[in-house]
Formats: sequence, structure tokens, C-alpha cells
Amino acid sequence: MDLCCIDDFEEHAKKVLPKNALDYYRSGACSQLTLRLNIEAFQRLRILPRVMRDVSRRSTGTTVLGHPVSFPVGVSPTAMQRMAHAQGELANARAAGAAGTIYVLSTLATSSLEEVATAAPDTIRWFQLYIYKDRKLTAELVKRAEKTGWKALVLTVDAPVFGVRYADARNKFKLPSHLRLANFEGLLADKITTAKEMSGLNEYVNDLFDDTINWKDVSWLKSITKLPLVLKGVLTPEDAVIAADLGIEAIVVSNHGARQLDTCPASIEALPAIAKAVAGRMEIYLDGGIRQGTDILKALALGASMVFVGRPALWGLAHSGEQGVRRVLDILRNEFDTALALTGCASVGDIKHEMVVHESLFHK
Ligand code: FNR
Repeated sequence: MDLCCIDDFEEHAKKVLPKNALDYYRSGACSQLTLRLNIEAFQRLRILPRVMRDVSRRSTGTTVLGHPVSFPVGVSPTAMQRMAHAQGELANARAAGAAGTIYVLSTLATSSLEEVATAAPDTIRWFQLYIYKDRKLTAELVKRAEKTGWKALVLTVDAPVFGVRYADARNKFKLPSHLRLANFEGLLADKITTAKEMSGLNEYVNDLFDDTINWKDVSWLKSITKLPLVLKGVLTPEDAVIAADLGIEAIVVSNHGARQLDTCPASIEALPAIAKAVAGRMEIYLDGGIRQGTDILKALALGASMVFVGRPALWGLAHSGEQGVRRVLDILRNEFDTALALTGCASVGDIKHEMVVHESLFHK
């Protein structure tokens, strides 16, 4: 069967991935209310199309932190991608490069910073960072990212501890024993392959991640690197304003794919108030629930300049590695281009806030 949309790729992944991996990739926290909201909140928004505007010469391109990208969709950091395909992060990063966009590598990757840099030298690569209790180790990761050509650090700010994910607890989730957390050596690389009571991932995080992290640590990070900093996981205008005041280059409005705090808002619900508060002082991106071209257009209308996808790229990997992710990104690009044309937009700059309204407007 030809897979022609992101949901087709997810259906395919459900058939081919082992349960341990599929559940880990798919789940959200607790009752998964926010997981559903991330999708449903997009469905509650309506696009008001303008017509008769000559859209024959269209461009989907834009610029992110000074990097031209061919369309405003990048790949979010997701841990342990070799559970989806033997080439894991290497394939995903190459596919993002082939699509002319950004790849973000997770700290908890099954391929190292150095391996991905070698496999995808021309991809715009950003490195997602978790702050470990061991600050020397954390600073070492930053140095390695600088040395191997990573263009920005994406500090995840919504994970002082990990969310409660029932499926991982039920499965006693572990990384299969032939895989490693490749950015580390010894115990830090292997610890996650052994789980005692609950999810191995939660055990790992609770032991090693620094839950004292606070805004001073952002200043610490700024003091040890010249790379631009992106804060991922902001959901309130208050926190966005603190980030802007600290001189952060960009934020990702994100709820971590609904895997952290259940019942927090969908990212797209949180976006408009944040965009208003930030008022152009830094770039704003969004991830969470992007599954079709119209979702991208809605996020851009409501204040994001770029969106990222996590699970859709994993479904592409599970299908056919690099080719599969390329196909997923192509589908999103084509659907976005079509959405531009059908709303009377020739470029991303033509997308206007007033083109997107909440469905309640029609039910008064
Ligand atoms: C994630 N996410 C994530 N975020 C992060 O900062 N570091 C990480 O290691 C991971 N790992 C991870 C694993 C898996 C399996 C998923 C699904 C997600 C969150 C990720 O970057 C992103 O915020 C969401 O995936 C976006 O939502 P969608 O596109 O999956 O709906």
C-alpha cells in the first residue's frame, strides 16, 4: 500500500515496531489528555482562505536563527532512534539535510554527536541538551557539540524529572541490549538497558538529571558557550518573557509531545499568548501534534516562525530509514505548499494572524 499521509506512516509503524519501542514512542503522560489535545486543538482551528491572489510563484522557504531552510518544518529531538531503524539518528539527520531543514539530536541518542556530524555533515544540526548533576559531563557535551559543527544548543527546560508514562512502567521499558546511549561511556551508556521495578528511562533520569535546574543555569550555560541557545518546553508568557530578558535567541513552545505534565495545554493553545508577550524579541518555534500541512500554516499564523515534528519522523524511520523520513518531510512540505496556495499566500510572509480562528466563532 502507498503511504500518502503522516497517519498512514503511524499505522504502518504500529504494525512493524516491537511493543517496547512502539509504546515508548507513542505514549504521553498519565491519562494522555494533553496527547489528545495536541491533535484536537489543531482540529478546533479554522482557516479562512483568501482567493484570487495569483499564487503561481510560491516559496515555502524561510530563515531560522540566520539559516535558510527550504520549508518551516524541522525534526525535534527524540531519544533512542535506533529502536526504529538500524541507522537511527544518522538516517534521520541525513533526511532532514536532504529536505533542506534542521535536525535536532537528543542527548539520549543511540548515535553520538560525532557519528551524526560525520554522517550528515551538511545538515543544519542543533544539539538538544539535558543538564546532568555532573556539570563537568554537561560542559563536556557542549564542547563536543562546538567541536563537531553543531549550530545551536536546545536546552530542554520542561524535564527536571521525567513524566509518568504508564506504558513504559507496564513494559518495564529498557533500551534493547545491543543499543547504547552513544553520547556516553560506561555506566551512563548502559544503565538504561537494565530496569528494575519501573521504566528504565525514569530510573536513569531520576538518578542523573539535575532537578535543581533554574534560570541561573541558563546564564551558566550562556557563560560556557558561544552557540545560540534555544529553550525548549516553554508554555507560559511569563517564562517566555524571562527567556527574552535573558537574551535567549529562541524558544520552542512545546509540552514535550505531551510526555511530561498531563493536562497542560496543547502547544498550539499556548502559542498566541506567548507570541503576544514576546512581541518579536526572539524567535518562537512550536512542536507537538503537527501532522499535516494545515497545522504548519496555523502555527505560523498564530506566531511561530518554524515548527518541528518528533513522532512523524520516527514513523518514517520505522518504515524505511532515511527514505522514509524523506517521504514524511516531503508529504509535509507538499501539504504546506498546497495550504499556502489555497489560502492565497505566495510565501510564509503572507500568512496572517487573522486567517486562523477558533471554531467557537461559528457556533455562537
Ligand atoms: C521526545 N521528546 C524529547 N524532547 C527532548 O527535548 N529530548 C528528548 O530526548 C526527547 N525524547 C523524546 C522521545 C520520544 C519518543 C518522543 C515522542 C518525544 C519530545 C520531542 O522533542 C518533541 O517535543 C515532541 O515529540 C513533539 O511532539 P510530536 O511531534 O511527537 O507530536
